[in-house]
Amino acid sequence: MRQYWRLDDAGWTLVLAGGEGLAEALYLGPRLPDGEDLAALDALSRRDVTGGMLDENPPLSLCPEARRSFPGQPGMVAYGADGALLAPVWAFERSEEYEEDRLALHYRAERLRLSFHFAVTYAGVLTAETALTSDAPIRLHWLAAPVLPVSGVYDDLIDTNGRWIGEFQLNRKPITPGIIQREARNGRSGHEHPPLAFLAGHGANNNSGQVLGLHYDWSGGHRMVLEELPDGRRQIQFGHTTGSEPVGTEFTTEKLSIAVSQSGLNGAGIAFQRQIRAALPPFRKPRPVHYNCWEAIYFDHDLASLKEIANRAADLGAERFVLDDGWFGKRDDDTSSLGDWDIDHRKWPDGLSPLIDHVQSLGMGFGLWFEPEMINESSDLYRAHPDWVLGPGDQITGRQQLCLDMSKPEVRRYLFDKISAVLSAHDIDYIKWDHNRLLPHPDAAQTRGIYALLDDLRAAFPEVEIESCASGGGRIDAGILTRCNRVWLSDSNDALERLRIQHDAALFLPGVATGSHVGPRVCHTSGRTLPMRLRAWVAAQRHMGFEMDPRELTEDEAATLKEVTAWWKANRDWMAEADILRLDADDPSVIAELQLAENGQRFVVFAGQAATSTQILPRPLRLAGLDPDARYEITLLPETNPLSRGKLALTDGSLTPTGQALMTAGITLPARFPETISIIEGTRL
Ligand code: GLA
Repeated sequence: MRQYWRLDDAGWTLVLAGGEGLAEALYLGPRLPDGEDLAALDALSRRDVTGGMLDENPPLSLCPEARRSFPGQPGMVAYGADGALLAPVWAFERSEEYEEDRLALHYRAERLRLSFHFAVTYAGVLTAETALTSDAPIRLHWLAAPVLPVSGVYDDLIDTNGRWIGEFQLNRKPITPGIIQREARNGRSGHEHPPLAFLAGHGANNNSGQVLGLHYDWSGGHRMVLEELPDGRRQIQFGHTTGSEPVGTEFTTEKLSIAVSQSGLNGAGIAFQRQIRAALPPFRKPRPVHYNCWEAIYFDHDLASLKEIANRAADLGAERFVLDDGWFGKRDDDTSSLGDWDIDHRKWPDGLSPLIDHVQSLGMGFGLWFEPEMINESSDLYRAHPDWVLGPGDQITGRQQLCLDMSKPEVRRYLFDKISAVLSAHDIDYIKWDHNRLLPHPDAAQTRGIYALLDDLRAAFPEVEIESCASGGGRIDAGILTRCNRVWLSDSNDALERLRIQHDAALFLPGVATGSHVGPRVCHTSGRTLPMRLRAWVAAQRHMGFEMDPRELTEDEAATLKEVTAWWKANRDWMAEADILRLDADDPSVIAELQLAENGQRFVVFAGQAATSTQILPRPLRLAGLDPDARYEITLLPETNPLSRGKLALTDGSLTPTGQALMTAGITLPARFPETISIIEGTRL
């Protein structure tokens, strides 16, 4: 007998249908009316059969089966102890419906059990997980989170790739017959393929059109398969990197988060931002302005200089001082000492306390850099425990370092004890937790090990906040963000590049968790020299900080930075809860966003002029997310525009248009130099 199950949120409906065998997702899309006849929906979706086909269409189930002649990628590939491919005959066992927003379906086969779990989160995101258990050990090659059919309304895949200092680049490509497969095999969620994808309906853009957002909440490697079958059906699968699971009896995928939007990419992006924000571990409020000394001094630690830097940082408005790499072992460069988490008494004869005391006397908290999962061959730890290294002895190192095997309890215990000793002996409220080497092979147990260590440390030191850094943005995902409060989005402090990276990462990343620093005048990763006004405002779009040597600042630069920092402090509370809407600028040289307060009462627009426009005058910038009937008082913050010689109402004072006018006619900004940014504040009247 065929059964139906239905989950709803305000904007969407999921319908599952199944009989004896595995159920399928019959429908995932805009919300269906309450009394929808699900059997009729099922009948409507039944497909014909013609020549050259099997006599029935094999189901595109929640775990498509090769055994049933499914013509595409199967949802599970596993081998028994004898090496034979498992081809279970699944039988429906039971369903569980808890409250209104959770559903589980359970299946059984000889010696195996398979379950699918669905839930609706507070942010309106659907989460889906698959669990597989076996009575005897099996080797799992691939297990997909519940597999979804992809409706024909979606024309394009918007995929993310990236690299060091060039994170979150978007690629939009048409979905065509065959497979688009992406696999992150480096053991982190990764610069290369962050676990994020959007399916875009006809003409969908930031603010309109149907979009399906998918995010796999896992900090290890993942695989995505988007496939259009010869019969025209399409499927999408997400799971851990193939072959990353050891032989075992219990396997679960991570949650696949799914956002269904009728309001373009922003509808999905905001749902993900809200979901991640709600799941962050507790943190200090208001968010303190950071100072990080990495690009100021690198490994050259000297108490007198650091005190002077701290004085200046505090004067600029910093509230937390983070001592980066170089304080431990004999770490004079990046060739040694990872693993030896003891203070370097050559550099710090009286320990870290003199600096911490000084920093605290200036009203700042203190944070410290660690890279716990790593080891240098040149370290006491390596000499004592070469067996703790993950992977083969002849592997290629990365940044002269190797990974520790985090699945080993003794490794986690060692790291816990070392880090605890430093945290217990000092008043430290923040860890910058780095991860700079790619794994030698994909390994899910490594990710579980790091999750376990983070969980243990957080339980022991609940007051200590943790930032996830992996050569910048190499480990940014919803999984790590249930254990860390902040991510270091990129090692690029180039404000122009950061403007773009922040914009694209806002497809899922909330502003409050996204670190953004004002870097040195001549950017260390691009060689560009950008004006302080741009550098400061780009940092003020997210969790603000400074990372230059403040001794290099001119008086003008310091004054500008102080002013923007003061603005940020005055606005950080509501911005910490704001939605970020990416604006559809008609001018490709403009990168603009609107941050909207949770209560809708205020907003701020950051409109970056990243390059010179092709046309002579700015095109109107249409806003988004406002109440069309409300009036808003809008004010352009003062800016100098040598290119502007007309008279614009906005440069003379505030205006009070309706939300409708702002969203359809838009705002016309003055003619601006490239590498500038305009800030428009809005208040609902
Ligand atoms: C990585 C990080 C940087 C810095 C250095 C220290 O590259 O991304 O921010 O902490 O390590 O070695």
